[in-house]
Amino acid sequence: MASISAGVFTSHVPAIGAAMDNGVTGDDYWRPVFAGYEYSRQWMKDNLPDVIILVYNDHASAFDANFVPTFAIATGETFQPADEGWGPRPVPAVQGHPALASHLAQSVIQDDFDLTVVNSLDVDHGLTVPLSLLFGQPEEWPCKVIPLAVNVVLYPPPSGARCYALGQALQRAVASFDEDLDVQIWGTGGMSHQLQGPRAGLINSEFDNNFLDRLVSEPGDLAKVPHIDYVRLAGSEGIELVMWLVARGAMNQQVEQRHRFYHVPASNTAVGHLILENS
Ligand code: DHB
Ligand code: FE
Repeated sequence: MASISAGVFTSHVPAIGAAMDNGVTGDDYWRPVFAGYEYSRQWMKDNLPDVIILVYNDHASAFDANFVPTFAIATGETFQPADEGWGPRPVPAVQGHPALASHLAQSVIQDDFDLTVVNSLDVDHGLTVPLSLLFGQPEEWPCKVIPLAVNVVLYPPPSGARCYALGQALQRAVASFDEDLDVQIWGTGGMSHQLQGPRAGLINSEFDNNFLDRLVSEPGDLAKVPHIDYVRLAGSEGIELVMWLVARGAMNQQVEQRHRFYHVPASNTAVGHLILENS
């Protein structure tokens, strides 16, 4: 049977992708950011899964404001990098896993989570930057990736509790797939940031570190934090953190923390990163 072995949590700052694509990761500004992922790149080599379920958000690249699914799972074979205004990132196409993705859709929809099913999808920095951070710049991504998109750009976003419960349904769904597959779940986005309005540039390190602590040790309670607290304390784009709760929900209560990293700033955000293994 398939099972989820580990979770990877990381920010998806687009400027991190640009730093890699433009070969400036060794600059004074970027060196400390990438240093925080050195352990992780080795860990990925040692713990390469068959498939990653990558929980991320689209930033009006594939879904414009006319159609915004709250939760969407991509069942296609291949996903191309999206053109976000400067041409597509020079990264490999993402290879999906249609059989597992269709099984997940069937399982969680019958488990009362109304996912939108997407067959064709271009993937933006929300998905490609985490892959770049963890895998570097390979010719091909080394495993399959199932994109699972969460709406955090158009009001109203789903609650943390709903995201956490969806994760729990995903864990059950993976466990009922009749093939031996090592699956990782990734939660991406965050941490605190606000890109617009009078509070643009807001970063709240105390909130972020508390979120990292509680995501590991008391995720069920953390999932009860209401939307308005994210906006007040972590900024309007801090709401991206609910996606980390989908991933944490798909893991066991007890996890081993393999790696934790926090750094301010990267572009307009705090970068946060965790690697958790199921125990
Ligand atoms: C920035 C961060 C994001 O999460 C995003 O989607 C776009 C920009 C930033 O820090 O600039
Ligand atoms: Fe974002």
